[in-house]
Amino acid sequence: MAIAAAALAVIPSAQSPAAQPPASVEASSSRFPPGPGRDALFKVCSNCHGPESVLGQLKTHDEWSKTLDEMANNGAQGSDEEWSQILAYLDKNYSLIFINKASAKDLESMLDVAPGVAEAIVRRRSEKGKLASIDDLKQVPGVAAAAIDARKERFIF
Ligand code: HEC
Repeated sequence: MAIAAAALAVIPSAQSPAAQPPASVEASSSRFPPGPGRDALFKVCSNCHGPESVLGQLKTHDEWSKTLDEMANNGAQGSDEEWSQILAYLDKNYSLIFINKASAKDLESMLDVAPGVAEAIVRRRSEKGKLASIDDLKQVPGVAAAAIDARKERFIF
């Protein structure tokens, strides 16, 4: 057990020390859902104010896109791939979801569902009209109730 703990403790310092985020950033990483783009967010967004600036903010896809443009103007630096990963990560975790307006493609990334499920939501809208509530949404075949509950403060009906 002691050996395992020691080995774990060594892992971070085995990486390049210069690439280590500040301790406060490391401590807060658990507040960010894991997934593609999180590393890029930590890398590109930690220099000036820390990635925490993103927490507690919900924006539309276009607003996030605009924020990222502003941060690039402020001097944030990342590769094209990192920028698109960050935008996708923000869309997935910190975007407002206009459930009655979003395209199937946007629903797919914002709800993290399979293409068929996103299409089923769009079909449900066109067949029966606007979704009025979270309960309506949960009744669409293939939609996982837990995934909806996890995002419930993000829906705009
Ligand atoms: C070079 C410095 C710098 C870096 C790197 C940086 N920012 Fe900022 N950020 C700022 C400054 C300065 C402000 C406050 C003024 C403003 O809003 O532009 C700010 C404010 C913010 C805000 C609050 C204001 C708003 O528009 O909602 C958010 C959110 C934000 N940054 C997100 C990010 C994200 C995401 C990244 C990584 C892609 C990032 N920042 C990287 C400098 C930076």
